[in-house]
Amino acid sequence: MNHVLRDDVVLITGASNGIGRAAALRFAQESSKVIITYNKDEGAAWETAEQCQNEGARGTMVLHLDVMDDISIRKAVADTVGEMGRIDVLVNNAGVIERRRVEEQTFEDIERQLRINLEGAIKMTRSSLPHLRNMVINIASVTALRGYPTLGVYAASKAGLIAFTRTLAEEIEPRKAYNVFPRATATRMTDFHGDPPELVAEAIVDLARGNYLVPNGGDVKVDDLPAMRGYSMADVMR
Ligand SMILES: NC(=O)c1ccc[n+]([C@@H]2O[C@H](COP(=O)([O-])OP(=O)(O)OC[C@H]3O[C@@H](n4cnc5c(N)ncnc54)[C@H](OP(=O)(O)O)[C@@H]3O)[C@@H](O)[C@H]2O)c1
Repeated sequence: MNHVLRDDVVLITGASNGIGRAAALRFAQESSKVIITYNKDEGAAWETAEQCQNEGARGTMVLHLDVMDDISIRKAVADTVGEMGRIDVLVNNAGVIERRRVEEQTFEDIERQLRINLEGAIKMTRSSLPHLRNMVINIASVTALRGYPTLGVYAASKAGLIAFTRTLAEEIEPRKAYNVFPRATATRMTDFHGDPPELVAEAIVDLARGNYLVPNGGDVKVDDLPAMRGYSMADVMR
């Protein structure tokens, strides 16, 4: 409980924008060492790193990472461990969405969502585990819990991720694995409608600090945050 994140090495996939970026800044405020990865938006990644330094990060790295590319995954993990020696927290946040009914999705749309949201997170975890000390946080989605027309493929990718977390937690104990469920959050993905990404970042950092009484492999829903801060087991989904 109440783990201090100072000097912890935190690797965040997709930290150039949105929720990942907000999480990077929030870990910086905890004096963590933040590894900011980007896919296309290098400029935003460097801006994030500069802001992390200003917010108190004990170190930052900016790395290119395409989670659809095995070499890129292995290189990002190797570069992190080469410089920092370990990974304390891995946040699998990189994600994409294609809002179309399944009959309108191209095979490329389907492949991209499954490979980035699910396969990418699993491969990042696989590569990080030999160096991982504390925790994997997977960014899930409430769309995986019931039907939302046009989001079937996206939801399937997130449902797979949630299932992966359950088993991962069993395999890596005493290390931890959790799912975080944002609601609609104001990022590029939603045309900037919804909760501020800082709210999700707060949940991620609170989880990493051990501030929620969540069983290993369990879920944190952003809706439930106030109650969960009170350590109410009734508010834990699993
Ligand atoms: N926004 C919501 O309402 C919401 C709700 C529930 C769950 N989520 C989840 O939250 C996570 C973050 O999404 P967001 O809303 O913050 O969206 P976002 O602002 O579009 O950010 C997505 C991030 O993923 C990165 N990315 C995209 N393709 C990648 C690839 N092939 N390899 C590595 N990184 C890649 C992007 O990097 P570049 O910009 O550098 O290309 C960007 O940093 C996603 O997993 C999403 O499914 C979002």
